Amino acid sequence: MNTPFFQLRWQQLHHPALTNSGDELWICHLDCQVQAAAGNKWLKLKYHIRQIQQHGHQGIVTFGGAFSNHLAAVAAAGNALGFTTKAIVRAHVPDLTNPTLQQCVNDGMELIFVEPSIYRKRHEPQFLDTLQSNYPNYLIVPEGGTGEFALPGFAELNFAQTPNGKANLIVCAAASGGTVAGIAYQQSQLTSPCPILAVQVVKDASLPAKIDRLCPSLNEYWQLMPDISGQKYGSFDQATLDFCVEMAQHGVAIEPVYSGKALRSLFWYLQQHPSSSERRITFFHTGGMQGLKGLHYRNMINDEQFRILSSS
Ligand SMILES: Cc1ncc(COP(=O)(O)O)c(C=O)c1O
Repeated sequence: MNTPFFQLRWQQLHHPALTNSGDELWICHLDCQVQAAAGNKWLKLKYHIRQIQQHGHQGIVTFGGAFSNHLAAVAAAGNALGFTTKAIVRAHVPDLTNPTLQQCVNDGMELIFVEPSIYRKRHEPQFLDTLQSNYPNYLIVPEGGTGEFALPGFAELNFAQTPNGKANLIVCAAASGGTVAGIAYQQSQLTSPCPILAVQVVKDASLPAKIDRLCPSLNEYWQLMPDISGQKYGSFDQATLDFCVEMAQHGVAIEPVYSGKALRSLFWYLQQHPSSSERRITFFHTGGMQGLKGLHYRNMINDEQFRILSSS
């Protein structure tokens, strides 16, 4: 699956906590020439893009918050691959100086700001019908890229196949559920599938049902656990931020909203569930590093933290 455009990169994380628990942890990076599409973004977008190319659509209309990694990825992909992008952006007050939206605009994305009360209708058939009739030649891609065509991109790589042999656990962050559904879909096609543990970074009681709808009858392959910080979506506590800084010092760059919460929760999980047999774990780095600029912009991380997290 490696191409000059998109490459799989494995990194073993060496850390005293892992040495003590006897666990081997591999970070799976998916580097992309379109940097904003690294990690899960390109996998979820690839077949949506194929769809617009095959059907001669002009581009994509999608949804996101003002600091959305998904919007950044769609805008950058549109710019690199030559399709038009439009976004329905959830915002009380439009702020075009926000670094994520500024980059989206630089990448040619048209932003349509809506009040949260309107944004809430984004799954309603009537709202979607009106949107489609306003943009008849566009593919509507749901929030987070978690739509009809999100899963097949995952089928092209096996997250359990580390450079040191087969993993016995795959771990990732979960928000809209497309990523865990994609990995479950891919693993379910193997004779010896690897279980998936997804750390839920949103407080959404309907997430299991959403994943189930995306990949019906595959719930034996995946399990959700709450993020141990207990923070709401988009927020993080000092311990998670400190953890990200510590990981950066171990050569692993993560941000605190998704992978920081997920990796810290995994460390906790391994400690809480010691095993007498050797464990080899894949942690899927879902990307989203552009989000650090937005955290810095909102003073959620300081200059020094921004420098450390974005330079590792
Ligand atoms: C960086 C990052 N990691 C993880 C996720 C969660 O992925 P999903 O929404 O497919 O569950 C997202 C959201 O798309 C994200 O931006």
